[in-house]
Amino acid sequence: MPDRYAVIGHPIAHSQSPLIHGLFAQATQQELSYEAIDGGTQPGGFMRALAAFRAAGGRGMNVTLPFKLEALACADVADEAARLAGAANALRFANDDSGPRIEARNFDGAGLVRDIAVNLAVPIRGAHVLLLGAGGAARGAVLPLAQAGAARIVIANRTADKARQLAAALAPHVGSCALVGAGLNVALGGVDGAGFDIVINATSASLAGAAPAVPGTVLARTQLAYDMVYGQGLTPFLRQAHDAGARRLADGIGMLVEQAAEAFAWWRGVRPDTRPVIAQLTRPLTVEPL
Ligand code: ATR
Repeated sequence: MPDRYAVIGHPIAHSQSPLIHGLFAQATQQELSYEAIDGGTQPGGFMRALAAFRAAGGRGMNVTLPFKLEALACADVADEAARLAGAANALRFANDDSGPRIEARNFDGAGLVRDIAVNLAVPIRGAHVLLLGAGGAARGAVLPLAQAGAARIVIANRTADKARQLAAALAPHVGSCALVGAGLNVALGGVDGAGFDIVINATSASLAGAAPAVPGTVLARTQLAYDMVYGQGLTPFLRQAHDAGARRLADGIGMLVEQAAEAFAWWRGVRPDTRPVIAQLTRPLTVEPL
């Protein structure tokens, strides 16, 4: 029997993870199976599904919405990225001399950083970054961006208090990076007119066909406008960035593939080449959503 892995979420039918991990397994000649599990909407559904998968010999899981917080809570050990993100997106079921345990990691931020710095070749070191949103997606991005050398990160959120609280909570962990939390308008006016090198949309606005209210002036000199969602074509945020003069646009498909590669390497000890998989899954941003 090949080793079993899975992604768990709700809804999960449209997850790309089984395809991505299948391609990784093929390319690295690893014998494994990878399935999608719907954790459902019942309280305790995630834990029941996890326990059943583990009892059936499962070795590890990717975790997606809405279970990332529960995934961290159920773990016996978690790395700093998961603890500071307050969420885990990958679990490993270990059983060695220290007994059975659940290990948790969060590779979302590492995937984002690698996609920006390596795949898109936009330097993060020294960059001024505007991070839109203060939910789970934004939270997971702050520390990896700071560790990659961002000079300044402004977290700008519709609800300003949430951004200020997030910045205050993470400030002790970001070293020399200047970390500021603000409302959308404050962030926009407050950056000495120099604008931002990288603007990342970590809000869920794109999923509702909307864009966070960012004046075009902020996006005009941006080297990279990055929307964490993927498969939506040119989102309203990316369209706005394009019209405002942002040099480069990207959606989150590279981040998805890179975080998957990190999990795969953690589980299997071999890091797959992400380029052919990203090339296969990339949809042109000029295409309208279906
Ligand atoms: P996730 O875990 O995906 O980050 P979340 O925790 O629900 O999801 O957070 C959603 C984020 O998107 C929040 O920062 C939210 O702003 P508020 O805190 O003000 O609610 C932001 N968001 C959602 N829709 C938005 C919109 N239309 N414009 C601006 N921000 C939006």
